[in-house]
Amino acid sequence: MTKIIKARLEHLDDVLKLERLCFSNPWTEGQLLSEIESEYGCVFIDYNGETPVGYCIYHMAGDQAELYRIGTDPDKRGQGIGNELMKTGISWANGQNAESIFLEVRASNVPAISLYEKHGFENIGMRKKYYTAPVEDAVIMVRKVTEDDNSCS
Ligand SMILES: CC(C)(COP(=O)(O)OP(=O)(O)OC[C@H]1O[C@@H](n2cnc3c(N)ncnc32)[C@H](O)[C@@H]1OP(=O)(O)O)[C@@H](O)C(=O)NCCC(=O)NCCS
Repeated sequence: MTKIIKARLEHLDDVLKLERLCFSNPWTEGQLLSEIESEYGCVFIDYNGETPVGYCIYHMAGDQAELYRIGTDPDKRGQGIGNELMKTGISWANGQNAESIFLEVRASNVPAISLYEKHGFENIGMRKKYYTAPVEDAVIMVRKVTEDDNSCS
């Protein structure tokens, strides 16, 4: 059983560790800190005991939320951690009165696209050659936030 909490300064090292495990182009410590400290951002981190196993980063822009990052430790994937992080992030967005949640994802990222579709996101377009290293198109996805979604702050 894991526990998802809002990351604070003392969790920065664990978020950075997961970020580096999950992405080939990891955010810097400073970028992560800025989201932890931002009044518009929220970083959630999932712990199994003392061990960080997953995280996600959301940010509000006007009445829309954006999912910036979500990642599970490669050794812990396929165990439902991504699902729980998605539920928590959607609840947070609802608590922020977001109308919808946007995200971009590499077109080849089948696990992530499947996760997002499972949580109600729809493909609304592409950004050509949006990503570098390697160059790749982004799929843009959106999901409305409704009153049926749980709400947490
Ligand atoms: C995407 C990611 C977060 C999924 O995390 P996870 O903890 O393995 O996800 P879960 O075990 O909760 O699986 C949830 C759903 O994701 C999808 N999924 C997960 N792994 C998958 C795979 N290998 N192939 C296809 N779909 C997959 C499925 O829809 C799954 O639903 P199911 O359990 O009913 O089959 C994880 O693969 C990851 O960290 N990837 C690297 C970072 C990344 O690409 N992040 C997204 C871009 S920001």
